[in-house]
Amino acid sequence: MLTQVLNPSQIDIAATLLRQGECVAFPTETVYGLGANALDEKAVAKIFRAKGRPADNPLIIHCHSRLQLADLVTGWPPQAEVLMDTFWPGPLTLVLPKQPAVPDIVTGGLNTVALRFPSHPVAISLLQAAGLPIAAPSANISGRPSPTSAQHVLEDMSGKIAAIIDAGPTGGGIESTVLDCTVSPFRILRPGGVTYEELSSLVAVKDTLEGAPPAPGAQYGHYSPVARVVLVTGDRAKAEINRQIDACKAQGMKAALMAFTESRRPDIHFLDMGRDVSVAASRIYHLLRQGDALGLDVIIIEGLPEKGIGRTIMDRLRKAAAIVINT
Ligand code: TXA
Ligand code: MG
Repeated sequence: MLTQVLNPSQIDIAATLLRQGECVAFPTETVYGLGANALDEKAVAKIFRAKGRPADNPLIIHCHSRLQLADLVTGWPPQAEVLMDTFWPGPLTLVLPKQPAVPDIVTGGLNTVALRFPSHPVAISLLQAAGLPIAAPSANISGRPSPTSAQHVLEDMSGKIAAIIDAGPTGGGIESTVLDCTVSPFRILRPGGVTYEELSSLVAVKDTLEGAPPAPGAQYGHYSPVARVVLVTGDRAKAEINRQIDACKAQGMKAALMAFTESRRPDIHFLDMGRDVSVAASRIYHLLRQGDALGLDVIIIEGLPEKGIGRTIMDRLRKAAAIVINT
């Protein structure tokens, strides 16, 4: 199959393909998604095939209007409505009790469904033009970093999907927060673009870090780079990083340091996370893909402060890391 690369003025072509039961990759404000008609089992099956995704890892359904929700969920608590009013459209996914019309393939057989309203203008236009709820996981092969550019999507999906809409790099760079609204208090299943601090200022929320069961499928798809990732955190991280770099050099290993710009060193390949956590969030997956492309033996990563979006970034880095050294 030839994958058509469309530009944002060709949304109608993408919408037609979706209505015909094809898979189309599209940008969101977090990462590129791989979309298909959420109500068409055969179309959704194509997503699982293209990604090599295990069948018990459920998908997020993307919508643009609350009028669409009546067909998808049986209802939601008032506190969830507060979150919809505040964070939609945006990087917050709510898990709610599903309507029987939502095919089992979308939810991995669960009686709940995950929903979000993306804020990227191209995603909104596509959802409007297709007139369908769109099931869409991140548009990477399962186990690879999520794609933040059309180039990343093509690396993984070229020849496997009907089309991609290329709207350049996504802004946010890290996936949506997945919040289970079927339990009280609500529970974060996956930290993401909307922070624990933002959520808990409005409603009672339990953090993933409090020993919560992770999202279904969280046991899969952890990105494990070819290189060994050594994540170094804590007050004495800089000294430990120096030691790690020296050890790599002594052993003749090809190593890179991933850290904020201020920690740049001239004597080692540097993967620049930028000047603050929001820049780091937008770059993290690109840097990990770059690390793979460079054929590194080791990536040494300097940990970030674990608050706000830093907490989300650290969640992803911990999952990529072979070793975490707390100093
Ligand atoms: O930002 C995002 O969320 C991106 C863009 C494309 O929207 N999508 C994304 O989808 O990251 P995916 O499939 O890579 O991750 C969805 C996560 C998985 O951890 C999945 O297990 C969880 O959401 N999830 C989906 N449905 C669920 C449900 N019914 N209950 C609990 N967790 C669910
Ligand atoms: Mg994903």
